[in-house]
Amino acid sequence: MLLTGLRGVGKTVLLNEIERKARAQGYHTIPVEAVEGKPLGPLLAPHLRSLLFELDRLAGMGNKAKRGLRVLRSFLGAIKVTYQDVSIGLDIDPEKGAADSGDLEIDLPNLLVAVAEAAEEKNSAIAVLIDEIQYFGQKELSALIMAMHRVQQRRLPLILIGAGLPILPGLAGESKSYAERLFSFPSVGALSEEESARALNEPARAVGVHFASDALREVFRLTKGYPYFLQEWGYQTWNLAPTPSIALSIVQTATPEVVRRLDQNFFRVRFDRLTPSEKNFLRAMAHQGAGNYRSGDIAETLGMTAKSIGPVRAKLIKKGMIYSPAHGEMAFTVPLFDEFMVRAIPEFQPRLM
Ligand SMILES: Nc1ncnc2c1ncn2[C@@H]1O[C@H](COP(=O)(O)OP(=O)(O)OP(=O)(O)O)[C@@H](O)[C@H]1O
Ligand SMILES: [Mg+2]
Repeated sequence: MLLTGLRGVGKTVLLNEIERKARAQGYHTIPVEAVEGKPLGPLLAPHLRSLLFELDRLAGMGNKAKRGLRVLRSFLGAIKVTYQDVSIGLDIDPEKGAADSGDLEIDLPNLLVAVAEAAEEKNSAIAVLIDEIQYFGQKELSALIMAMHRVQQRRLPLILIGAGLPILPGLAGESKSYAERLFSFPSVGALSEEESARALNEPARAVGVHFASDALREVFRLTKGYPYFLQEWGYQTWNLAPTPSIALSIVQTATPEVVRRLDQNFFRVRFDRLTPSEKNFLRAMAHQGAGNYRSGDIAETLGMTAKSIGPVRAKLIKKGMIYSPAHGEMAFTVPLFDEFMVRAIPEFQPRLM
């Protein structure tokens, strides 16, 4: 399963909850967080190593865990060639040819199958949980997908649950059609008005506090139901409320402070990572209001050709600031970022890039 959605909608919260449930059901879990520019192999390897040692110690017949370790050793030999900073002690002879071709699309499936076979032999199961999965390169995502395909064909007890920004549109060709069949892609998004009201009222009610219905309506209007924003408005109104009944006026008093804090933290940390050209590009998007943006329109706003904005757009996608929901369209990954861009740069004057 690959959970996808924008920033701050609750993907990581869900992933942690799924991990907790998986563990309660006896899964061995491998939680990893992808980081921009860090390859998949070295990220997974230390987890697989301790898992295989653990499986090896479990009672029961068989030697698949030991074989898993030899395959892992062969995999590490192969990635060592490419990434010299990986040194994970594994004092074991590699199984030559098992996962050392150097081609991740061949080696990773072999490795994960060997690990899953070890789990199967010990009547165990593995859940690999990967957060921020969009940071993997196309080759790595494709290797991961091919590995899961093999695992599924052999009905081995290993599952993958990923979370990240919408990535399907970025997956190309073969891996894309594979992925569509293999995974479910629940999209995690904003809450409905009713759900937003519950998110605030239920925990409050548990301690005898109540949000008035016009207060809830106002919070929904401002947050559009985005979980992280609900959390912030809930926090400030809670702090400001003098009585156990939170009225509309409290929300109105809290709002400037919430917006100030969001601007200074949530939005600002992202803004500060941008170059002037990138800010200019995002400001041009925001200039057109909310929604999805056509690349052609952005170029026009900037007084440039669609082709010449390509490099800046690519950098913004790489930084996870924007994504392409459909061909030729762009959207912000951070909810309400368009409004923030207008606050941050009130006077918009396109500058040449
Ligand atoms: N089920 C929930 N219960 C309470 N709060 C929640 C829940 N889901 C989300 N939130 C709120 O939303 C915030 C963001 O959630 P989370 O970090 O999981 O988002 P995300 O989708 O992983 O965002 P990002 O893409 O930036 O990593 C949480 O810190 C919390 O304030
Ligand atoms: Mg997250």
